Amino acid sequence: MNANPIGIFDSGLGGLSVWEALYDLMPEESMLYLADSKYAPYGHRPQSEIIQLSIKNMDYLLEKGCKIVVVACNTATTNAIEILRQSYSVPIIGIEPAIKPAALNSKTGVVGVLATRGTLASSLFTKTAALYAKDRKVIEQYGDGLVTLIEAGEMQSDQMHQLLLEYLNPMISAGIDYLVLGCTHYSFLRPQLEEILPKQVKIIDAANAVAKQTRSILEKQNLLNQGAQRPTLRFYTNKDISVMQRFLQAHPADKIIQQVDF
Ligand code: SIN
Repeated sequence: MNANPIGIFDSGLGGLSVWEALYDLMPEESMLYLADSKYAPYGHRPQSEIIQLSIKNMDYLLEKGCKIVVVACNTATTNAIEILRQSYSVPIIGIEPAIKPAALNSKTGVVGVLATRGTLASSLFTKTAALYAKDRKVIEQYGDGLVTLIEAGEMQSDQMHQLLLEYLNPMISAGIDYLVLGCTHYSFLRPQLEEILPKQVKIIDAANAVAKQTRSILEKQNLLNQGAQRPTLRFYTNKDISVMQRFLQAHPADKIIQQVDF
């Protein structure tokens, strides 16, 4: 039994979609979420820089006593998780594009993956796609510009709509029946994506799978919070807190949102 918080980090606000899945599954756990928005997006940065930023975030979370860390960022997972696991002894859970269930369930045999350049260029992504989707046509699309607009809270802007049309139309023409969201930020675009995609196209991300995996590791290692201590939910960003507040305002849980330096 361990009452310390679950640490979660992302290049910014996208990982809040993973936090929500974690909270839904384990409302009794304390959580500390780090949004590295000052350095977002990670997707176009060289791997060495993504590793450096991920180490900075890990160090901060471990200093605060986190018992496990969820890397709620596909770009950081695919580029840095191996190094992180070699460097730290706490359990580290990553998030990867959900290409396996999409490839297994696709009826048209054509699957779209929307992700950052950093994720699509990573060897982890290439290996996963080769393993699970070798008999499928996989259409990979960089989501250039999307993270910056989401970080600015501009999900409904015309610019966003134009970018999504540009990115989705080739996939629609190719006959996809699954769209894999390979960046946690993109989960906040579901309403916009659903408006553009034909009804039969299913949108999937890996947030619930990550939450289940986190719970299972905590259980196996006897780290679940089973005490009477009231959990705390803290959200730290190294940028102005107003957009984060907007993202979280509809969520009923008691929470502390703060701007901090890290
Ligand atoms: C980014 O920072 O470019 C996106 C984060 C992600 O891949 O989830």
